[in-house]
Amino acid sequence: MSKDTLTITDNRTGRTYEIPIEHDTIQAMALRQIKVNEDDFGMMSYDPAFKNTASTKSTITYIDGDKGILRYRGYPIEQLAEKSNYLETAYLILYGELPTKEQYDEWEYVILHHTFVHENITQLMKGFRHDAHPMGMFIATLAAMSTYYPEGREISDPDKRIKQIHRLIAKLPTVAAFSYRHNRGLPYVYPDNDLSYTGNFLSMLDKMSEAKYKPDPVLERALDVLFILHADHEQNCGTATMRVIGSSHTDPYTAMAGAAAALYGPLHGGANEAVLRMLMEIGDVKNVPDFVKAVKNRERLLMGFGHRVYKNYDPRARIIKQVADEVFEVTGKNPLLAIALELERIALEDDFFVERNLYPNVDFYSGIIYQAMRFPIAMFPVLFAIPRTIGWLSQWVEMLEDSEQKIARPRQIYLGEGERDFVPMDKR
Ligand code: ACO
Repeated sequence: MSKDTLTITDNRTGRTYEIPIEHDTIQAMALRQIKVNEDDFGMMSYDPAFKNTASTKSTITYIDGDKGILRYRGYPIEQLAEKSNYLETAYLILYGELPTKEQYDEWEYVILHHTFVHENITQLMKGFRHDAHPMGMFIATLAAMSTYYPEGREISDPDKRIKQIHRLIAKLPTVAAFSYRHNRGLPYVYPDNDLSYTGNFLSMLDKMSEAKYKPDPVLERALDVLFILHADHEQNCGTATMRVIGSSHTDPYTAMAGAAAALYGPLHGGANEAVLRMLMEIGDVKNVPDFVKAVKNRERLLMGFGHRVYKNYDPRARIIKQVADEVFEVTGKNPLLAIALELERIALEDDFFVERNLYPNVDFYSGIIYQAMRFPIAMFPVLFAIPRTIGWLSQWVEMLEDSEQKIARPRQIYLGEGERDFVPMDKR
């Protein structure tokens, strides 16, 4: 008997089945042969929230949650954060290899020369309520972009596909910046293609009457590093949504609007916003013990702590802590940092958190940096969505090119009523 198999005995029938193991995994469909009789549908696996189900094979991002390891295409996140920039990392994530100088120059040129949005998109964004949440504007505009680029529906054409990828990476910082300026009642600033990817983004956010905006190099680099850290994170809620919507062969704009919507929730990319609101509510270091008590009594969640995959310190949180120090040198210290550090100190020593392997995740410190950089809290999820664009799109391409993939369609265990006859209203 081959060693790479799993032997299952069905005690209902006494029958034994040998199921192949590949990559330490069994195919869920292999369970279907396990039946009590011929009419039986066959065995399924039940996994609400996909806690132990691999939905794809992927070569993009590797995470070892127990050891706190994150790599894009094999490269450790720490090395990319130190030595790369966002656009280079984006190229790596999409194509699988670091670009040569020539490839990088061309890639950068193409992205930096697709930053303008159609004037009708600008008009459309101006139609939002004056205080619209920037993430709501971002998601809605992203969905609306599908109507400007109908060729995006030609998903089987690799040339058309890469064109939409260029557009999305290039234009979403513009959409994000417009949503920010709108929310503040400021005139929109058009892209400056002479600046770097993040430098241009800062210009569209901050520029007022000056002829040429000069981004602060420390803040420009800090934002770039934050973008690298957020570029991909394998099959998380937003990415899984991108793949599920994309599996019905919709265009990438519409699929990404869904992915961004999934990211918006406070248990996912909206957590950095929730962390900041929590820190402001705690208000003072002396209130930290009471807050921790409330968490342990299950009255509150410690936002920015815990992760479905990391059961160790999130490596991104470690890098962000270093970035925070550099940013605070320019901006001055965010007073909320002291509260965050005290929360972390207590939590990492407390049995409740230790037993459950609850450590700070990427969102615990990112909000504090964004706030020090004077971003309003409502912009935080948008700042997550911009860099995640490349992750969503690379995973979408991988899904489309994977011959094992089909339209995503989970099963259910039906526990409702059996068949019954309709009862007229006067008899109920
Ligand atoms: N505060 C207090 N207790 C927590 C927290 C938290 N932040 N996170 C998990 N726990 C507890 C749970 O109550 C549970 O305890 P129990 O076993 O006694 O019932 C145990 O730890 C395990 O947690 P689960 O909820 O089963 O873990 P799951 O993998 O389903 O959830 C999640 C992960 C959603 C991230 C969760 O940790 C959470 O809600 N954290 C706060 C929100 C947050 O920071 N989200 C950002 C995640 S990073 C990202 O998306 C970019």
